[in-house]
Amino acid sequence: MHSVFAAPAPSAIPVTFATRESWDAICADLPGEARQFAKANGFAAKPGACLTLPSADGRIAQVIFGLEDETSKHRDLFRPGQLPGLLPAGVYRFANAPHDTRLATLAFALGSYRFSRYRKTDAPAVKLVAPDGIDIADITRMAEATQLARDLINTPSNDMGPEQLALAAQHLAERFGADFNCIVGDELTRQNFPLIHAVGMASSRAPRLIDLTWGDPAHPKVTLVGKGVCFDSGGLDLKPSSGMLIMKKDMGGAASVLALALMVMDAKLKVRLRVLIPAVENAVAGNAFRPLDIFTSRKGLSVEIGNTDAEGRLVLADAIALACEERPDLLIDLGTLTGAARVALGPDLPPFYTNDETLASDLATCAKQENDPLWRLPLWPAYDAWLDSKVANINNAPSGTFAGSITCALFLQRFVEDAKSWLHVDIYGWTPSAKPARPEGGECQAARAIYKLLGQRYG
Ligand code: BES
Ligand code: MN
Ligand code: ZN
Repeated sequence: MHSVFAAPAPSAIPVTFATRESWDAICADLPGEARQFAKANGFAAKPGACLTLPSADGRIAQVIFGLEDETSKHRDLFRPGQLPGLLPAGVYRFANAPHDTRLATLAFALGSYRFSRYRKTDAPAVKLVAPDGIDIADITRMAEATQLARDLINTPSNDMGPEQLALAAQHLAERFGADFNCIVGDELTRQNFPLIHAVGMASSRAPRLIDLTWGDPAHPKVTLVGKGVCFDSGGLDLKPSSGMLIMKKDMGGAASVLALALMVMDAKLKVRLRVLIPAVENAVAGNAFRPLDIFTSRKGLSVEIGNTDAEGRLVLADAIALACEERPDLLIDLGTLTGAARVALGPDLPPFYTNDETLASDLATCAKQENDPLWRLPLWPAYDAWLDSKVANINNAPSGTFAGSITCALFLQRFVEDAKSWLHVDIYGWTPSAKPARPEGGECQAARAIYKLLGQRYG
């Protein structure tokens, strides 16, 4: 990945952060012509407003960029992520401190991302001199991980099937010397992954279970499971076209888990890491699984199919069962599992679930610190009975429409065993309209927050 960071240079153009409150004082300190130029432009340092001030010889002397007021309730610490999209090509430096210099630096890197696989985009040729005291290696690692996840999600399903997703995982494994294994097609049946096989078999692109292991076996076992549904048509309970439109992103859990793995391995955290990704396409064909089919899962629970569109929890269930067979110290699964999570919390705030109180409060703190927001929802025990089936041990889609993200989490919980601690995050994996540092399209969610938590525990 080409870096957005540049070595310190005397010619770097200073970017001054201003707020509506601080603008008058900053303006008063400007040279007379610059002050006049700012006034003539009606510049008031509104959040996101950018003013380039010319020098006498017509070059860019400096830039003023507006932030929310220090005490504003709506402070966006990623606001400087707009800069790469606003500034002309060049090398810049921060002239004063934004609200949070580390997050501003990260935002600058994240805001430089463009998806350029299918046409030449004008990737901003805008570089930043690393601010003093910032761990640029760590920022670069997070930016690279985010880029990986975004590229994987943004790549359309015709070029990002189960096989291509497995190849991406294999490349990552090779780069960091991790062991890589993949169970493909009918071999899933022979090795007892009935649910992964059931969901994926209608596609001409064979389902598979990706399995990556890295690190000292003596270290604590951290296992990541990511939903890798490379396209979710809904299966026979087909999605309406509006709901199907962005379902290339249904491998967002896998993408975010690979991003997290990249950070963990690159930072050499003291863990024995395992990454499990059931990679499938939920397609329609004569051999597709059907409503009211019953499968016996890897864990031995019989599962009745209430809706073939609740496929993510099915493939995760078998992967979670496998993960639990080696009793991990920490089990984490991420997936784009429910529309209900969006109804509850919208696209930017994924709900997380755990019964480990320490993990919950530590994660909430990390999410806030990293500006990778997460919000805890409960594994509400009384709703567990909604998953009951009249003919099998469990149904994958409760008939009611209440609390859909919670009932999905409760479904997964039935397959968790012997993990000392379990965390489930129901992510969206997508930014519907561009925000600072978050271009429209695929988004890596929860990975930076969890990376921070793992770094605190195992760094
Ligand atoms: N991949 C979808 C969830 C999804 C839909 C995420 C839209 C983000 C936006 C998942 O496989 C799904 O279809 N879930 C169903 C579950 C239902 C059938 C119980 C849903 O949320 O409607
Ligand atoms: Mn679905
Ligand atoms: Zn899905």
